Amino acid sequence: GPELFGSRRNSRGFDLTDAADLARIEAARAPHAETIFDAGPRLAGPVAEAASLAILNPATGALVGHVQPASDADVQTALAKAQAWDAPAADRATILRAAADLYEAEFGPIYALLAREAGKTLSDAVGELREAVDFLRYYADAAGSLIAPARGLFACISPWNFPLAIFTGQIAAALAAGNAVLAKPAEQTPLIAAFAVDLLLRAGVPASALQLLPGDGSTVGAALTRDPRVNGICFTGSTETALKIRRSMADHLDPTAPLIAETGGLNAMLVDSTALPEQAVRDILASSFQSAGQRCSALRCLYLQEDVAETIQHMLFGAMDDLTPGDPWDLATDTGPVIDAAAQADIAAYIEVAKAEGRVLKTLAAPKAGHFIAPTVIRIDGIAQMPREIFGPVLHIVPFKASEIDAVIAAVNATGYGLTFGLHSRIDDRVQRLVEALRVGNTYVNRNQIGAVVGSQPFGGEGLSGTGPKAGGPQYLPRFCATPAPLAMP
Ligand code: NAD
Ligand code: ALA
Repeated sequence: GPELFGSRRNSRGFDLTDAADLARIEAARAPHAETIFDAGPRLAGPVAEAASLAILNPATGALVGHVQPASDADVQTALAKAQAWDAPAADRATILRAAADLYEAEFGPIYALLAREAGKTLSDAVGELREAVDFLRYYADAAGSLIAPARGLFACISPWNFPLAIFTGQIAAALAAGNAVLAKPAEQTPLIAAFAVDLLLRAGVPASALQLLPGDGSTVGAALTRDPRVNGICFTGSTETALKIRRSMADHLDPTAPLIAETGGLNAMLVDSTALPEQAVRDILASSFQSAGQRCSALRCLYLQEDVAETIQHMLFGAMDDLTPGDPWDLATDTGPVIDAAAQADIAAYIEVAKAEGRVLKTLAAPKAGHFIAPTVIRIDGIAQMPREIFGPVLHIVPFKASEIDAVIAAVNATGYGLTFGLHSRIDDRVQRLVEALRVGNTYVNRNQIGAVVGSQPFGGEGLSGTGPKAGGPQYLPRFCATPAPLAMP
């Protein structure tokens, strides 16, 4: 209601069941089906000459564009030219809102890039653009209520799995608070990052406040984490990389420089015998296989109460047979590719071990060409048996007895991760008890556990899953300021 959201409304996006909306999308996206995009450093100074690398479509292998990675000299230029954005908060907010409008207007090339560079289905792309726009407007609204000054210079280091939404959310927050930003996108998705930065600059963000440094994590990313001119780091990616960044910051940066890290998860769902099976199956399917399981929030380990396990498993496997893996450009596709050959090989090897041990309960046929992993279900005895986050369309199932619920909670908490949890139950006391006992950032009851909505579902984990504060929530922006500012709801 208005008490929560003020006058801000989240982006409408498109209704994919509406023929008129679909026709508008098709008309705007089609001209970009074969465009060759270009990305390179966006600096407030000269860019050094360097060779470009090809970026290929993970579903088809076709060329999507070229990226010129930032050189050491480019990183130094960016560090030297960066200047905190000292315009009044209201002016910064106006420019970020103008950028949100430009993002919405450019939905055609953005959906095309999200499909071709990042393997996003149209419904994922629509959700992702909405989230990026919502971040811009949410942080623009919040900027006016900050009372502390900016920290100075933030390095924003982002993952490929939300190459627009998370990339934009980090930058929008740092800029809204008046910082300068050096943005380091994931090596797999520089084209969408460059497209987004061009829109932000076009909207009026000064070139010295926002510079783009595409390139490898181990070179460009690492250089940003060891330069004392950087006053804070906003990172989303694996827990392993967050640890490396923290070590580097400890050695090189001001000891008060914050690390705002959103990292991985080992996310579980519990479905008890009071759940509505059709609803549970729909939500299990979306949580595990939408975005080909490449969401940090995705369901990895499903606890099914024994009394209903067989029925739900049977219904789930039937529903999986209706999933269409394929090229995300195709409107009939439900699950696209995984991001690259390395991810495909890693997940395939994991599934092969489970197959050899006779633990694969269900798998589909995946397209032969492209980096596809077929949606797969594996039987395990408990979440403790999961060695790590398997970042793809792989669901693990564990049956449990009603008497074992406390043990399930203990096992989930014992992983040390705490990002999302899904719960299907109609027993109020149980819901209350689990919500209180689980050490996770976001618990979803009787719905799927992906797709947190900016402003209404602030998103972020506990333990190994993130440092907080939650993105898209009232406590986020003060972390980008010099001293803690009072909580402010936009
Ligand atoms: P990653 O950690 O491999 O890479 C993330 C970013 O860090 C990339 O830009 C990469 O180039 C950079 N990087 C790598 N090494 C670096 C170093 N030594 N110094 C500085 N930067 C470095 O993660 P990924 O594979 O791109 O993304 C998938 C991971 O992200 C998964 O673990 C997923 O759970 C997590 N994720 C978390 C959230 C969340 O909100 N909690 C959201 C999305 C993704
Ligand atoms: N915010 C993303 C989700 O909730 C990661 O799925």
